[in-house]
Amino acid sequence: PDFWVVLPAAGVGARMQADRPKQYLLWGQRTLIEHTLACFLDQPGLRGLVVSLSADDGWWPTLPCAQDARITRAVGGRERADSVLNGLMALRELGAADDDWVLVHDAARPNLTDGDLHKLLSTLASDPVGGLLAVPVRDTLKQIGPDGRVTATPDRSQFWQAYTPQMFRLGPLRKALTDALAAGALITDEASAMEWVGLAPLLVEGRADNLKITRPEDLEWLRQRDS
Ligand code: CTP
Ligand code: MG
Repeated sequence: PDFWVVLPAAGVGARMQADRPKQYLLWGQRTLIEHTLACFLDQPGLRGLVVSLSADDGWWPTLPCAQDARITRAVGGRERADSVLNGLMALRELGAADDDWVLVHDAARPNLTDGDLHKLLSTLASDPVGGLLAVPVRDTLKQIGPDGRVTATPDRSQFWQAYTPQMFRLGPLRKALTDALAAGALITDEASAMEWVGLAPLLVEGRADNLKITRPEDLEWLRQRDS
């Protein structure tokens, strides 16, 4: 199906401890955000793409893709969910309809494959709710108390890690995010907002290496893999 993309890219990358927001760090010849954008810009079904950036972002204008007519800027918000919501508002101004599909994908997740993207799109094309790429948890899980000691070992077969892209229809996603944020719910991805309004997103198993670059060792791993 045709689809729109929102790329939240307004974080500061505190855990990365770099001299700039992590999406502007280099992986090979290009920045992480350029790799992430490239995953989508070649797709024939792409209707348009919004990047949510912090208001004082001086890095973005230095990139060649800042001139790309297919990319629109939105302003980031305090939390990721605010940045996404601003991106969804911008899509409406671009002419997106409420039942159009929107893919929300972390700017800091540059290793999405064509295969995973197409698997998500084809699996969910006629789904009533939408869903997300996800990966089964690999390690044994531990629940801990305030003293750091283990209180339980839950059955890991019931747990998956939520990745992106997450794919929902514009109208329902905008309403879910708006309502959940207004109620002060803990919303760390789009699916959790949909769940908050009573819907059940579908998990689509993806590749484990579609990882979000969060800590310095994540980027070291990517760089070493290609060298
Ligand atoms: N993001 C955003 N707006 C925010 C916070 C995060 O658009 N207010 C984006 C980030 O730029 C990133 C994605 O959401 O692409 C995932 O967030 P995360 O990995 O937490 O990135 P940061 O918030 O930048 O990193 P940290 O939490 O370590 O500061
Ligand atoms: Mg963050």
